[in-house]
Formats: sequence, structure tokens, C-alpha cells
Amino acid sequence: MLVREDLNVPMQNGAITDMTRIKAALPTIKDLQARGAQVIVMSHLGRPKGVDQSLSLRPVAQELGRALWTEVKFAYDCVGPQAQSAVGRMQAGQVLVLENVRFHPEDEANDPQFAQQLASLGEIFVNDAFASSHRAHASVVGVAKLLPAYAGQLMLAELEALHTALDYPKRPLIAVIGGAKVSTKVGLLNNMTTKVDLLVIGGAMANTFLRAQGHQTGSSLVDETAMEAANQVWKTIGQRLLLPIDLVCTQQTMSGQPMRTFPADNVEAGWIAVDIGPQTVALFTQRMAGAGTIVWNGPMGIFEIKDFAAGTRAIGEFIGGSGAYTLVGGGDTAAAVDSLGLTGRYSHISTGGGATLEYLEGKELPGIAVLREA
Ligand code: 3PG
Repeated sequence: MLVREDLNVPMQNGAITDMTRIKAALPTIKDLQARGAQVIVMSHLGRPKGVDQSLSLRPVAQELGRALWTEVKFAYDCVGPQAQSAVGRMQAGQVLVLENVRFHPEDEANDPQFAQQLASLGEIFVNDAFASSHRAHASVVGVAKLLPAYAGQLMLAELEALHTALDYPKRPLIAVIGGAKVSTKVGLLNNMTTKVDLLVIGGAMANTFLRAQGHQTGSSLVDETAMEAANQVWKTIGQRLLLPIDLVCTQQTMSGQPMRTFPADNVEAGWIAVDIGPQTVALFTQRMAGAGTIVWNGPMGIFEIKDFAAGTRAIGEFIGGSGAYTLVGGGDTAAAVDSLGLTGRYSHISTGGGATLEYLEGKELPGIAVLREA
């Protein structure tokens, strides 16, 4: 059984700093083990240009073994004789992790021969790597065309959550969007305008909307390239858009600096918005009360610095306790939720970063399209 997982975990000095994706892969692997399959796991890690030992999956395989309470074998290559002989030695119920598929540039190129080499290791393909499914790579798409292909449990859970929130939402459906740049989320914002009953915008992205309307944003981060896009979103969504009314500002984005709260439409020169203010928190939570579904993507401020985390925490806590169906889009939002100790309060936290964003943009992900065909 050839299983694509997304074990692209964050690492620092060779140590894994977040186990979320390893834990999320366990249900599928355990299920296949219990059914007596030989479970061959493939994944990428980072963005290596050729072989790069600092991006070896070996430490990840060890952690996976600890999480599974079982010995996990490791093959020093994902194709060729090393992979073949490691697979040849496998017993029913055993787990083998193959080395980083991106050590071969053919993976990203979706090279048919490389896909064939990967496919030759198994008889059935399971794609459990929702977080990689926006990539038309050999280990995601190529292999799915060569073997009987199925979705794993994590993939199904991710898709079910996204369908529940976006396609059959309990209304009102509210999207809370934050983060730094409008330009990276234009597709997401445009798609949300067609779906939501209320679009709540916080984080640095709100500055661009405020500036586009001619307001004073002081020295706050503004995405100059996205003014037009912001105005377009505003025009389309009209009254259904909710922006901050006050902003916590500082003159230097570090902890321990003096902070002042300004009206959102009049931030003084030299001051930088770093969080939403208390009146905004009150307004946002009041308007979110009674929501049927809340989709949250992007923090409300620079939550990484404790002094500026209050807005993200308050909104995160409110969403978590709202009683709505709550979907947290992955990447920086999942990191915010984790660092604020809010994990476990939501209906679903996506493991996807770019993949979740593309799904929220309304794009079809190639790794999922190919499973549908299969
Ligand atoms: C992610 O971390 O979002 C996925 O693992 C995809 O990684 P990539 O952007 O390097 O393809």
C-alpha cells in the first residue's frame, strides 16, 4: 500500500518543532496496519534542490515510529534498489518511510517515469496528503494515475470539513480573514464574497482596505499593489464587510514598546497598527454572535509578539466558544491557535497551508481531481 502523507513538518536544528502533521497521519496508517497492509509512506520535506541531508525524512520516520508505538523502517531513497529492497523485506502490518521525494526533481516535474518507479513499489495508492494536493507532483498526481487510488482518512476529514463549511453551511456563514497581505488572498476574498453573509477583516490586511478608502493608516503595513483589489472586494460585498474601528499601534514592532490605540481611520504618522483594538473586538464578536458557520483564516495582528496577541486571542476564543461550525484554515492561523493554546476548541483545524488557501479560493486541487477521476 503506497501512502502519500504530508510530513512536511517544521524543524529547527534537526528537531521537529510541531507534531501536528505527524499526528494527523496516524489514523490512516494505523487503519492500514490493522488490516495487515505493508504501509509504504512517501512525503516531501521542505523545498530541497536535489539531495540535502538537512531535509532527510529520517528524523520524521523516527518520530512517526514513536507516535505509532512501533518500529518504522526507513529507506534512504524513495525509488531504485534501496527502496525496492526495503519494500521487499516488509512484513504485513509494517510501516516503511521512504526518503524525501523531492530529493528527485522529477517529483515536482511530475515525470511519468519517476511516477512509474514510485508506483512499482505498491499495488494500491492512498492519498492522505491534503496539504500537498495543490501540487501536481508525481507522488501526488502521477502515481494516482497508475494505481487504483483512494483518499485516506485525513484527506476525507479535510474535504468533509471544507464541504460542510463552504458548500452546505449552516447560516449565517461568516469568514474572518486576517494576515498581512491582500495580494496573496485576493482569490480567497473574491470567492468569499460569493458565499458569506459577513466578511470580517482584521490583521494588516485591514490597513490596505482602510487606506484604499483614503483613511490615514500611519506607518502601518499597507499592500500598495492591492488597493484596487481591496476596493473591488468592498464594491462587491458592500454592507456585508466588517473592518476594524480601532487599532492597537506601536512605533516599533517589538515587545515592551509604548502602545497607543487609535481610531482605525486615523492612525497618526509614525505609528504602526499591530493588533485590533478593544472596540473592534467588541464589534466583531457582537456581529459574529449567532453564526451558524465561521471560517477563520489569518491572525488579527502580530500574535507572535505577546504584547500584540490580545486581539487574535479574543477573536480565537470567541470563535472557539461560539457554538457555530468552526473551520480554521491552516498555515499561520493554525500556528496562532497553537501558540495561544486554543487548539481543540474548533470543529476542524486544517493541516493545509497553500492547499487550504487554494480550496478557499474555489480552485480545484489537482491531487483531489485525480482521485475523483479514479
Ligand atoms: C505545505 O507546507 O503547505 C505543504 O507541505 C506544501 O509544501 P510546498 O509549498 O513546499 O509544496
